[in-house]
Amino acid sequence: MELFTAMKERRSCRNFLAEPIDETIIEKVLEAATWAPSPLNTQPWEFIVITNPEVKGKIFVEAERSRQWALETTGWKWLGTYSLDFLKSVPIIIAVIGDPKKSGVDLFMEEGPMGYQAACAAAIQNMHLAAHALRLSTLWFTLFNKKVLREILSIPPEKVPLALICLGKPERLPNPTPRKNIKEKTTYIR
Ligand SMILES: Cc1cc2nc3c(=O)[nH]c(=O)nc-3n(C[C@H](O)[C@H](O)[C@H](O)COP(=O)(O)O)c2cc1C
Repeated sequence: MELFTAMKERRSCRNFLAEPIDETIIEKVLEAATWAPSPLNTQPWEFIVITNPEVKGKIFVEAERSRQWALETTGWKWLGTYSLDFLKSVPIIIAVIGDPKKSGVDLFMEEGPMGYQAACAAAIQNMHLAAHALRLSTLWFTLFNKKVLREILSIPPEKVPLALICLGKPERLPNPTPRKNIKEKTTYIR
């Protein structure tokens, strides 16, 4: 698939068929992640591929708890109708874990280590595009408490669970989401 087509066509999916996905496909998506840039090529990512229904169930419970918490904290009405059932049907959830120590020179800057997050985000976008090129759908999911997710997935305290990537075949294709005009977002210093 042509790169610009993949970038434009990819959409977040929130309804998945329960059909399993071949491991060779998962490996292709993970390999795409590793081609992302990273500070000093430290490759600060690790992945946990989750297909176990019991673990997916625990993730669902934590996401539901976080949704309730977010609804009470923000008062945002959409959270009241936001269904997380896709976490139960999705065949694969890939946890992306970052290592803050692998942040390059950022480690010595006053804002603290951010390079590892940027690199993991680049890896995640590669996963999204690779999955789309393989006719699969994805969702970048972050509605969870990091401490709770660490416990569920046995992640050591020095590593950070940054995202859960839902991966599977879509039940129906999502509607396009609008984008702002690039002119509103760009200034030139010539
Ligand atoms: C850092 C990040 C966190 C996100 N977290 C969630 C999430 O927790 N739940 C969710 O449904 N979508 C989540 N998304 C997906 C966005 O809602 C989605 O990308 C956005 O609405 C644009 O839609 P599109 O991906 O279809 O273009 C997240 C996206 C990013 C980049």
